[in-house]
Amino acid sequence: MGIPTSINRFLVPPVTLIGCGAVQAAGEQMKAIGGKKTLIVTDKFLATNGLADRIKKILEDAGGQAIIYGGAEPNPTDKNVADGLQAYRDNGCDSIITLGGGSSHDCGKAIGIVATNGGTIHDYKGIDTVPKPMPPFIAINTTAGTGSEMTPAAVITNTENNVKFVIWSVNVPVNIAIDDPELHAGMPPGLTAATGMDALTHAVEAYVAAFANPISDGLALHAIKLIATWLPKAVANGTDIEARTAMAYAAYIAGQAFSSAGLGIAHSLAHQPGSFIGLPHGVCNAVFLPLVCEFNMIACMDRYADVAAAMGVDITGLTPREAAIMGIEAIKNLSADIGIPSGLAELGMKAEDIPKMAEWAMKEVCTPTNPRITTVNDMIALYKKAM
Ligand SMILES: [Fe+2]
Repeated sequence: MGIPTSINRFLVPPVTLIGCGAVQAAGEQMKAIGGKKTLIVTDKFLATNGLADRIKKILEDAGGQAIIYGGAEPNPTDKNVADGLQAYRDNGCDSIITLGGGSSHDCGKAIGIVATNGGTIHDYKGIDTVPKPMPPFIAINTTAGTGSEMTPAAVITNTENNVKFVIWSVNVPVNIAIDDPELHAGMPPGLTAATGMDALTHAVEAYVAAFANPISDGLALHAIKLIATWLPKAVANGTDIEARTAMAYAAYIAGQAFSSAGLGIAHSLAHQPGSFIGLPHGVCNAVFLPLVCEFNMIACMDRYADVAAAMGVDITGLTPREAAIMGIEAIKNLSADIGIPSGLAELGMKAEDIPKMAEWAMKEVCTPTNPRITTVNDMIALYKKAM
């Protein structure tokens, strides 16, 4: 892969506050972008453990008002979006704060899209289908993984067929993203590991994706380095604020990398068990990532050698093929060290679902940007390996 001479599109990231105590600025920031009555979109846990109430108080102290909607489920659905929109309209809200990880942000973005554009969220499936910007919007991130606090994407599950669909548009990034590592310290080790592997998947897939370019390359490789160094520490000791801060940066810049480079079939494969049986997105990605690297390797051996070096492998004197294989081994070792299961059968993925999942994976927006052209039989083989 060389330097792309075609036009690449770069996301201008939202105004972003990263660092301990950043969440305290949420009230003043919301005032600055014109929000007076804010819907706080979050999950059931954060709606009841005091954190959403803390955000509400921060908004009130700055002269605003807030309503809490705690209905964003993991792998958020079209129904979660419709219920949140109802709460937004019933309470006369004019702005949105999302609080949580990717599920809260994706659900909140979807509510915001329909709030200003009308219709239902299904009307905005696909690329560049959102004509008007969302209402004033702040995303407060409590995990380090999806990058959804700054990406132009939202992923929603259609409850009619249990299939996820992606909305990807210039009008989907939020106005302000807040990554306060002190909020990340509350994540248990399993969630830290899963979300961190999602970020690693973003970085590796972006580095080999069709629209990879010098900007995304730098971001992706640095994200891989940070994750290889700091993710095990963040899993081992959740209160290690230096590790939490490093992971907050890593997930953010991995999000920036894939926002311009695209993703690949690890994500196409991972989305299906996510929506079919509700498996965590990060765990699915962690299982598929090394399998997809092995499958893709012949398309861009040199690129996977770079990934190996970023993972901390000493590649001196190795051929690109040897280095690539060692890099994939390093990804597997990282997963094992932080307790990610090695297969999805033990989590409930069923062999009889594979043909249907493979068919849906082929239709994903991430499939065309994968470096190796993929057939439905390739998808089936990769699902079988992931069992
Ligand atoms: Fe992801």
